[in-house]
Amino acid sequence: MTSLPPQAADTRDALDVTALRHPDSIKWTLYGPDVIPLWVADMDYPVAPAILEALQERLTRGLGYHQLRGDPDLLTLLRAHLATQGLDGLQDDGIALLPGVVPGLYAAVHALTTPGEPVVTMTPIYHPFHLAITDLGRRVAGVPLREGEDGYEVNWAALDAASRGSRLLMLCHPHNPTGRVWTAGELEKLRDLAIARDLFVVSDELHADLRFTGEAFEAFAADPRVRSRTITLTGPCKAYNTAGLGIGAMVGHNAALVKRVRSAAGGLMGHEGALSVTMWRAALQGAGPWLQDTVAYLQGNRDFLMAYLREHAPWIRAYTPEATYLAWLDLREHPRAGTIQQFLLDEARIAVHDGPVFAPDAHKTQYQGFIRVNFATSRAILTEALERMTAALDKAR
Ligand SMILES: Cc1ncc(COP(=O)(O)O)c(C=O)c1O
Repeated sequence: MTSLPPQAADTRDALDVTALRHPDSIKWTLYGPDVIPLWVADMDYPVAPAILEALQERLTRGLGYHQLRGDPDLLTLLRAHLATQGLDGLQDDGIALLPGVVPGLYAAVHALTTPGEPVVTMTPIYHPFHLAITDLGRRVAGVPLREGEDGYEVNWAALDAASRGSRLLMLCHPHNPTGRVWTAGELEKLRDLAIARDLFVVSDELHADLRFTGEAFEAFAADPRVRSRTITLTGPCKAYNTAGLGIGAMVGHNAALVKRVRSAAGGLMGHEGALSVTMWRAALQGAGPWLQDTVAYLQGNRDFLMAYLREHAPWIRAYTPEATYLAWLDLREHPRAGTIQQFLLDEARIAVHDGPVFAPDAHKTQYQGFIRVNFATSRAILTEALERMTAALDKAR
């Protein structure tokens, strides 16, 4: 086996921009060569050595069809991992591998609702949620989160009203883009609502391993009361920075429900790739320490970002994300708020995601002036991006 290049003490601090800007990276090549990309949810860090070693080893063998119907070792590792999040007792037929998490969102909308029906989700929301609903001819029953004293919270009355007449709630936990991790109390109320309104629930828990809360993660379906109606979606790509090797899983205690959703997509899903399976196995088996270090580094970046904004742009409204490497910032006070993403691209040469992306048409204007910032880069790159951003914003005030 070829040996891997030695890694610096903290590779996250020593990123090489020229290497990051390789031609296959959408994050680093979509905008101009002088633009710092803080948009799509990829981290700039090198992949965990345990994963690279496993991939190299796998390449010494053939690349024919991998074990179909779920790799037994991966399923065992995944079951053990999910049990730590409250999803204990999953059977093999309760796990279906997918080419990614987004196909699971589409499959669930397709299988569990019919065209024209409303599907409930809380906005702002990771855009494939509302796109899955509208692309498949359903309607988004969007319930805006509201600002509480300490951050974004569920508008319970509005959620309840939207749920009447709907059959599916699409939950993002932890929530992209606000970085909320729903608390035990909130999860309990969400479960009560799902039962009272007889909803199926799709809980996208892809960011579960990137938390700064210090407490064990509680899956929505940790409570047996909602297990028969819930599909949980998960995958390795956010925690281990492997989105280029698409793979995910839909899991549920109700095997018939998993089968219904998986078969609704039929042959459209394709099968999982051998390298993707190898990667996920290696991640769960040997990349735990790497993940721990990464979360610690991200937490440092998050705290730095929040402190920087408090000091240099206290007018920007922001709540400290509890998970993910994404910050949801409210710049509506700024005179250029109406075209804020383009303004920051033109004047600061930084690329962020524009607020309206995270809402269906009917709610888009509500999020104009918001941006989502990806802080999973080196402290030096983040510092330069923030300096450029605040300088450009100050100049135009
Ligand atoms: C909440 C959430 N779900 C799904 C995805 C995408 O998952 P995949 O690339 O496996 O389809 C993302 C990517 O950022 C995400 O944030």
